[in-house]
This record gives sequence, structure tokens and C-alpha cells, in this order.
Amino acid sequence: MNKAFSDQLSMSLSDLLSAQTGLHFPQERWRDLERGITAAAPAFGMPDAESCAHRLLSAPLTHHQIEVLASHLTVGETYFFREKMSFEALEQHILPELIRARAHAGRRLRIWSAGCCTGEEPYSVAMLLDRLIPDQKDWNITLLATDINPAFLRKAAEGVYGEWSFRSAPDWLQARYFRRRKDKRFELLPHIRKRVTFACLNFAEDVYPSLMTNTNAMDVILCRNVLMYFSPAWVKKVAQNFHRSLVDGGWLIVSPTETSNSLFPQFKATTFPGAVLYRKTKGAESPAVPAGHPISPFDSLPDTLRMPEAVTGASVQSVAAEPAAIHPSHQEERDALCRTAHFCADQGRLAEATAWCEKAIAADKLDPTTHYLLATILQEQGENDRAVQALLHALYLAPDFVLAHFALGNLRLSQGRHREARRHFSNAQALLHTHTQDEILPESEGLTAGRLGEIIASVQLSLPHLTVASG
Ligand SMILES: C[S@@+](CC[C@H](N)C(=O)[O-])C[C@H]1O[C@@H](n2cnc3c(N)ncnc32)[C@H](O)[C@@H]1O
Repeated sequence: MNKAFSDQLSMSLSDLLSAQTGLHFPQERWRDLERGITAAAPAFGMPDAESCAHRLLSAPLTHHQIEVLASHLTVGETYFFREKMSFEALEQHILPELIRARAHAGRRLRIWSAGCCTGEEPYSVAMLLDRLIPDQKDWNITLLATDINPAFLRKAAEGVYGEWSFRSAPDWLQARYFRRRKDKRFELLPHIRKRVTFACLNFAEDVYPSLMTNTNAMDVILCRNVLMYFSPAWVKKVAQNFHRSLVDGGWLIVSPTETSNSLFPQFKATTFPGAVLYRKTKGAESPAVPAGHPISPFDSLPDTLRMPEAVTGASVQSVAAEPAAIHPSHQEERDALCRTAHFCADQGRLAEATAWCEKAIAADKLDPTTHYLLATILQEQGENDRAVQALLHALYLAPDFVLAHFALGNLRLSQGRHREARRHFSNAQALLHTHTQDEILPESEGLTAGRLGEIIASVQLSLPHLTVASG
């Protein structure tokens, strides 16, 4: 390929991309950068790479532009059971230990494939779990899979693969979990396909951990062959967010080529045969506590609001004996209880979180945001019917509550009730028009109206693909 970009142009582009997407293009990768922009130019309606580069530099990148660029500047390459040794560590050590620990404590597992591409990675985990826990009906297992590229996510949700995706797969895989189609492609069996939830998430822009995107209280995060495209500064930022997304004892799995002594200092590196994985240890450098969250759930609460030890399972330290002096207003009381619920939910202590939330509702029944918070926690517990009720309650109190419509749309989608899902997504889109693009939505932990509009549009686009027997 002839070089079309001047050094100055390559440098400006790589600075822009690093700042807005985290993607890293040092001088030795400028050829890749030019190749990617050449491939992306038609999607931006530009005749050639150079004019496309100038257009991109003329104004801050939009979310759409970032998504298009990411899909051309990173490699969408993946296959089942890629990096076998990491999967062996998962199958032989990490998952059995987790399953043993949780079998008598909540029967709950939460795994996130971050940068899942076309789905081979999260489906590999779903198949491992199917072998390790053949009867999952008493378990609450979340398998979240996210990517920046909506086209990859659509393909992932279809679950249909060519022979090349199986190039490193164990022998039992195709026979046990796939149906061969007439076109010689392989279709994943529905019971495995349905166990993975796909969602659009950009590490460099979106907010996580967050109850809203279900990216909190994870036991395992796989983020493999993604961080290699990011600058070291961005890898550190992403790693810090992952640290906060994990429960104590949770694991971060990166690719063997991405392990580093310097980039994941908050984790304990643990060596398995052929793989080094990162563990969040209790008492490790504590994650930044989000604004408004108490350091301890008990710190901001008056005595009258303390949960009995039997519920928390924690030993509540003795506190100054001035109970009668504080008479918080309903609102203050509710806010303190909600913060505590949030804090517990972020740590994966969901039964406690629900109990605090119910107390908050008892303190102030008319606040829609508390019902919404309860719904997100119930949903995490797999209590979808109760979550729907809580969201309907929130919408009864505040019919223009955009995030409640969005959440209800997602819940209905997961229940296969596509018509209702569509209605709630349209309601949310219509309500978003009353906000400016950059406005941070209430209760969203930092999500802008523009970004939510894009996320919903991408789900709406994928609906026809997901709705063979739509309701
Ligand atoms: C090479 S694939 C890795 C797939 C899989 N994790 C594996 O190891 O086989 C890299 C994926 O990272 C995604 N990606 C790149 N930048 C991203 C970002 N900023 N946020 C989320 N995903 C991103 C790409 O869209 C692509 O699907």
C-alpha cells in the first residue's frame, strides 16, 4: 500500500484516537492506522483515506464514529476455546472453586466477557459451565458479553459459526453443542445461546462498574486480546475499573501476551500451568468509592437505620449512643438507606441490598428512583417478575422515567416478550428527545441521553434478528 498519510497526519490521528477511544497507534503501527482508516472511509461517506482522516480531525468524534473506527482498527478475530491454557485454569481451578464456595451460599455466579467479539469466548464459558453444573435450574448465573461493535454483537446473538471458529476447539464441542445446518455452518443449541446476554459497551467511554449495565459484582472478567490495542495509560484506567467491577476474590483474565508486571498493580498475579491470571484480593488497594457512597454502609446511617446483624451477617461495631438525637427527614433517611443498598449491591451482597432497598421504600413510598434501584437489584438476583413489578411501580410514580422504560424493555426482551420490549424502547427513545444529547440522565451513573439513544437504537436494530417467534 502506498503511504497516503504524512507523518503529521498520522501523529494527529493517533493522538485523537488515543484520547477518545483508548486505541494506541505508536509510529510502528501507523501503517495499520492508515489501512484501518482506508477501510472505514466508505462507512463515513468519504472517497479516500486522507479526506476521511481530515474529516475525523475536524471535530470531536461522535459515538457512532468511535464504533465504526473501533471495528476497523481492531481485529475481530476470535475462536472457541482460544488460549487453551486459560480455559484449563478456568475449568480445573477457578470455576470448581467458585462453584464449591457458592453451592451453599446463594448459588450465584457472575462472569463477564469484555470485548467478546462474535461470541465464541462467552459461549465457550457457557459450555464449560454446562459441563460443570449440568443442572443449572437452582443457580442464578449471569454471563454478560459486551463489545463496542454492534455488528459483532448481532452475529454473536445469532450463534451461527463456520468451521474456522472451531480451529482450536476440543473434540466434543461440535457434536455436543451444535447442530450442523444445510449450508454447512454450525448453529449453537438454544439452551447455551440463551445463557449469554450481549450488550454494547465501550471501555473508553461507558460507565462501569454500574448496576445499570449489570457490570458490578463480577466473579470473573475475561478481557482478552483487547487491551493490547490500548495505550498503557488506558489499560491502567480500564484495569482499575475492572478491579472495582469484581467482588473480593474475583478474577481478571487477560491474554498471555497482555500480562504485565506494571499494568495491573492492584491485582495479585497467580500462575497456573501456561497462564497467569489476576486476582482481586481482599484488602488490596481499595477501589475508589464512587461519589456519594459511604465508605462503610453503616457510616452514614443513624442508629435507628442499622440493619440487625442477623440480616447483614456482619458484626456491627458499637456506635456512639446518641440514637434519639437524629431525626432525619424521610428523604434523608431514604437516601442513606439507598446508598447502603447500592454499596451492598456493588459488593454482590444482594439479599442485604434488597432488604435495605425495601426499608428505603418503607421510609418513602413515593420515590420512583428507589423502586428503580430495587428493580435493578432484583434483576441481578434473577427475580425478573418482581423486578418488572418494581419498574411498573416506578413508572406509575414517574411515567417519564427514561431508564425505567429502558430497563423494562430489556427485561421484556429477556422474557421473549418482544412486542412489549419494543414499546418500552420506543417510549424511552421518545422521552430522550426531551433531553439534550450531552445531558446526564438521572439515576444513570453518568450515562448521557445521546449515548442511551444509541444503545437503544442498536438493540432495536437487533430485534428483528432475535425475534423469529416474536410476541
Ligand atoms: C481480537 S477481539 C478479541 C475477542 C476475544 N476476547 C478473544 O480473545 O478471542 C477484540 C475485540 O475488542 C473489541 N474492542 C475494541 N475496542 C473496544 C472498546 N473500546 N470497548 C469495547 N470493546 C472493544 C473489538 O470490537 C473486538 O471485538
